[in-house]
Amino acid sequence: MELVIREVAAGDKAAWHALWDGYNQFYESEIPAEITQNTWQRLLDSRSAVHCRVAVADGRVVGFAMIVLHEGTWVTSPICYLEDLFVMAEMRGKGIARRLIQALIAEGKSVGWSRLYWHTAQNNPARNLYDEFTPADEYVRYRMNL
Ligand SMILES: CC(C)(COP(=O)(O)OP(=O)(O)OC[C@H]1O[C@@H](n2cnc3c(N)ncnc32)[C@H](O)[C@@H]1OP(=O)(O)O)[C@@H](O)C(=O)NCCC(=O)NCCS
Repeated sequence: MELVIREVAAGDKAAWHALWDGYNQFYESEIPAEITQNTWQRLLDSRSAVHCRVAVADGRVVGFAMIVLHEGTWVTSPICYLEDLFVMAEMRGKGIARRLIQALIAEGKSVGWSRLYWHTAQNNPARNLYDEFTPADEYVRYRMNL
């Protein structure tokens, strides 16, 4: 399998949409169409802090990593938050998510991000993969919808 990790492009719209739908089904969340549309537009907007890297296996877009670059008070260079990671069901277990994370690490090192971080559910089996990169820390998340 030839696997390429690259920035999302306008021509990926249909493939990205299918992945986004699968991702939201996984989380049993219903994202309003206008938010999906807005997110897609921001992914293509170089001024936006939201970015997407896609995994392309033998020419087919099969997964994504969506990130938000933000500032921090303890560092002067960007911090990368990996917000969404998804690989279509039939392509799982082939190391694609591993490659997406490795690509973010390589990109961050080359352009000078200070940190990469992400959250996951306590019981997400993908933690087997995440533990390959770094141990989980002891922080817990507090989140309020406003
Ligand atoms: C999590 C997810 C992105 C992993 O994608 P993937 O391409 O299948 O992961 P990889 O093949 O790179 O996994 C590599 C390793 O992680 C482990 N792993 C990853 N996902 C796993 C899962 N669902 N169950 C068990 N082990 C898993 C395996 O041990 C695997 O090791 P191996 O290569 O030695 O077998 C994919 O399962 C997915 O999209 N899940 C639904 C959405 C989700 O949970 N996203 C992450 C939210 S934080």
